Parts: sequence; C-alpha cells; structure tokens
Amino acid sequence: MNILLVGSGGREHALAWKIAQSPLVARLVAAPGSVGMSAHAEVRSVLATDVPRLVELAREIAADLVVIGPEVAVEAGLADALAAAEIPCFGPTAAAGRLETSKAFTKAFADRHGLPTAAYRVFDAAEPAKAALDAFRPPYVVKADGLAAGKGVVIAPDLATAEAAIEDIFAGRFGSAGARVVLEEFLEGEIGSLFALCDGTSSMLFGWAQDHKRAFDGDQGPNTGGMGAYSPAPVFTPELVEQVRTRLAEPAFAGIAKDGAPYRGVLFVELMATADGPKLVEFNVRFGDPECQVLMLRLESDIVPYLAACAKGELAAMPAPIWRDEAAICVVLAAQGYPDKPETGSVIRGAEQDFGPDVVVFHAGAARGEDGALRATGGRVLNVCARAPTLEAARERAYAAIANIDWPEGFHRTDIAWRAFSR
Ligand code: AMP
Ligand code: GLY
Repeated sequence: MNILLVGSGGREHALAWKIAQSPLVARLVAAPGSVGMSAHAEVRSVLATDVPRLVELAREIAADLVVIGPEVAVEAGLADALAAAEIPCFGPTAAAGRLETSKAFTKAFADRHGLPTAAYRVFDAAEPAKAALDAFRPPYVVKADGLAAGKGVVIAPDLATAEAAIEDIFAGRFGSAGARVVLEEFLEGEIGSLFALCDGTSSMLFGWAQDHKRAFDGDQGPNTGGMGAYSPAPVFTPELVEQVRTRLAEPAFAGIAKDGAPYRGVLFVELMATADGPKLVEFNVRFGDPECQVLMLRLESDIVPYLAACAKGELAAMPAPIWRDEAAICVVLAAQGYPDKPETGSVIRGAEQDFGPDVVVFHAGAARGEDGALRATGGRVLNVCARAPTLEAARERAYAAIANIDWPEGFHRTDIAWRAFSR
C-alpha cells in the first residue's frame, strides 16, 4: 500500500514509526513531516491545512490511504476533499470534526444525545460571563470555545482569576478560539483518555492512557497540550472502560451518524472518572498527543489494517487489537516558556543517539539547522518514550535517557505516571 500521513508532531512521528513497521506498506509519505519522521517516511513540504495540495500529493503517490494526524487538517476539510476524489481516508469529515472544533457544539451534542458531562453555560461577551460566575462554585472552569491546542482552559481557584481569564479570552489571547467562552461545573475525579475507532457504522475500542495536562510537577502551572502520558493506567478498571464504551463512545458515534455526519477515524474521549461514573470532558477527533506515542509502543498488532478498515467501512471484520503485556511511558521535553511563550532555536544534543530497542525519541517540534544541529522549533519539542515489563522500569528507562540528552533550554516534568504510583 501507498500511504500519505498528514502532520508533523510527536503523534505523527509515532504513527510513522508504527506504520513503517507494517509489511503491507510499499511507500509512506509524510506531509509536512519532520526530521524525525524522515527516518520512516519520505517527507514532502505540504502543510497539513493545504487541502488542495494534499489531495494532489495523494494522487501523485497513488495513495491507497491517507491518514490524518492533527485536528487542523480535519477542520480544514481534508477528509471531505479526499472523499470527493475517491481516496480512502482515516479521519473524519469537517462536519463530524465539529465535536472537537467547538466546545459549545460538543456540550450541546452531549445534552442532545444523553452523554454525561459537566453542567455548563456558553457566552459571547465578557460581562454576562463574569456575572454568571455567581451560579458556579470555585474552582471555576473557564474555556475558550474553539481550537487552542489544549491550552484554552483555565481552572481558576477564585473569582478574580476566573474574571481575568474571561477577559483574557475575549481579548484574543487564544485568537479566534476565544470568540465565545464556556463556563463549566468543576468535575472532581481522575482524568483519562480513551480511544475508539469507527468506520461510519461499526466501532471498536483502541486503547487508553493517562495524560498530564499541567506544565509542572505536582500538576501545577498552566494547562498544556500534554506533558507526558503512560499506559496502561490503573484508573481504567475494566468497569470504567465498559462504562466509557457504552455511555460515551458508542452514543457519540450513534449521535453523530444520526446528525448526518458518520464518523470515520479515531475518537478521543477525554473523561473524568467521578464518583458518579465517567463524565465527558471533551472529544477530540484524532489521536491524543502524547497518548498516541505510548499506544504505538504498546500496540503489538499491525496498525495499518485498522486504519484502512476505518477508511473503507470494514472494521466489523477486524479482531480486537493486541497490546503488548508491557507498560509504556512518554515524557515531553518542552522549550522553556511553554505553553505561553516557548523560546525556540536552542540546540539539543544527544537526542539522536541509540538508546536501545525499548526507548524511542519522537520529535514534536525540532528541526535540523544548516549546521546539522537539532534545534527546538516549537513548544513541545521531544517525546522521550520507553517501554518495559513494569511501569516503574519504563519510567526509569525514560528518565535515564533524558539524563543523556543535553538541552539546558528545555524542561520536563519529573513525575510522569505519579497517579499510578500513589495508589
Ligand atoms: P480540555 O482542554 O477540555 O481537555 O481541558 C484541559 C484540562 O482541564 C483537562 O484535561 C482537565 O484536567 C481540566 N478540565 C477541563 N474541564 C474540566 C472540568 N469541568 N472539571 C475539572 N477539570 C476540568
Ligand atoms: N493530550 C491531549 C491532547 O492531545 O489534546
């Protein structure tokens, strides 16, 4: 098969690493790709939002399958354009993708189809939003409505912080994502990420993991796109997995089909495991980043048949995926200043050495300068991932590798997977 993989982050590097291991693949092309991805794929410099050129590229390489990594490509309507060109695509249409692109849309969707979620209100101006804070209790949950790469959420301990967050959002701190604000009830519990595949009709669970959203150790600091992940996570008891499947994932697929936009691709259910069962925090219409990285390390099955089956409506014929009986962990190395103002351009040394078969360093935001040195180009820069028979050993492996990477301008959390060890 010829496959076009769209995207350039750590998630896409992990997908490229896994897809390239498939004996079914004749040619793997990544656009726009990264230095890291060039080890597994031919890299072509077409942006993930440049729909016409991506369709052209898919035609040029006679792609049997296009795999959409990031939500921006979903929002840009890549799946729609590929459907028109009759090229199989893993990834939902823009209409189905609204589950991620608007939090207000998702909350209304959850209400309409009876999915458990936090109580909420939506506002399109700052004054009424601030006035409504009275109806909520601290900590206040203030969200920019649109896509903000996981950063548009403020958990405010008091009224003044909540009011400032509302003003910030309407002042454009998150760009057009902040044209509306969602206020939400604070959910008490443990967070989890569960993934389900759907081919428009049939669906299947496809792994779960736990992410760490806050920038600093001890879950302090601002929300980020994710600072680390691990799998399996003990929060996912068999009962919780079953509840998420029946109360959130399957009703979501049914609801979206009923609304006229059948879902093809992976649905990322971000949930809070509360005393009353799982409640939806949000949906994402692509794999989680960095959750995808740990799932790819643990996935024993060839991923390509699953991606193709989603694209072609053949998921019902597929067996459940096989996971290695091992734990995997991912620690994100970010540029200082992330998430607000990451400092880019600094040189990273030692990230490309061979760390052995069970440690992989995925590139999230790194490029090679003219001098050949690897440099930081984004906020999240590297994903140091490790697997081992136990989570403890995987954690040791990952942090031992990090100790051998020389990057004074970066930082990382030292407590990834802490919830698993504090039980
Ligand atoms: P989101 O971008 O919606 O995934 O939110 C980012 C993070 O904020 C989540 O991973 C949660 O840790 C936290 N969060 C979001 N909504 C709530 C809520 N209603 N109650 C408690 N925590 C929340
Ligand atoms: N790690 C959470 C996300 O991908 O949004």
